[in-house]
Amino acid sequence: MKLRLGVLGSGKGSNFRAIMEAIKEGWVEAEVRIVISDVEDAGILKLAHEFDVPSRYVPPGRFRTKLESEIEHQIVKILRDRDVELVVLAGFMRVLKEVLLNAFPGRIINIHPSLLPKFRGLYAWTQALNAHEKVTGCTVHYVDAGVDTGEILGQRTVAILPDDTAERLHARIQTAEHLLLPSVIAEIARKRSNRSSVLSPK
Ligand code: GRF
Repeated sequence: MKLRLGVLGSGKGSNFRAIMEAIKEGWVEAEVRIVISDVEDAGILKLAHEFDVPSRYVPPGRFRTKLESEIEHQIVKILRDRDVELVVLAGFMRVLKEVLLNAFPGRIINIHPSLLPKFRGLYAWTQALNAHEKVTGCTVHYVDAGVDTGEILGQRTVAILPDDTAERLHARIQTAEHLLLPSVIAEIARKRSNRSSVLSPK
């Protein structure tokens, strides 16, 4: 039985594409049941269409960095209607609150472009450059009530080169993300199929 995923994203969707390609290549025992975005013209919605994956735009409401709880309820319903076991935040630019966190305890993961716990929050690659780091990378972690604070599931490092620009560094981090995120999902799928057919909370 394949691990049933729901993917939330606000941007171009390159991590979603990486998940779909890994599934197609056969090394991730999963299926994406739904893609949800808070941005109507997000690339991730167009990609979902290309890959023939159901998708929904959910208008985000009046806040800038979080969702109204009514909207979190809507998203929970969409995910439950599709029988989603694991929620993957792939560039979803809003902080999740109780309604979503409580509906999927220990079942929401996020990809972040730094070696957490360093450089939480926005533009993490620029933060690493400005801090004169020699190495940065990306992290997949469980989502909890903090910002980029949950238990770490996997990381990949990326060297910072002497003449790096923010754009070039971000591009190399994204290449690392495209390997890391599917690998972590593959691992969760493996563990879940060893345990039972249903993903249980941690
Ligand atoms: C990624 O760099 C991820 O680390 C961050 O948002 C970006 C999403 O990119 N959370 P994409 O939409 O998957 O291309």
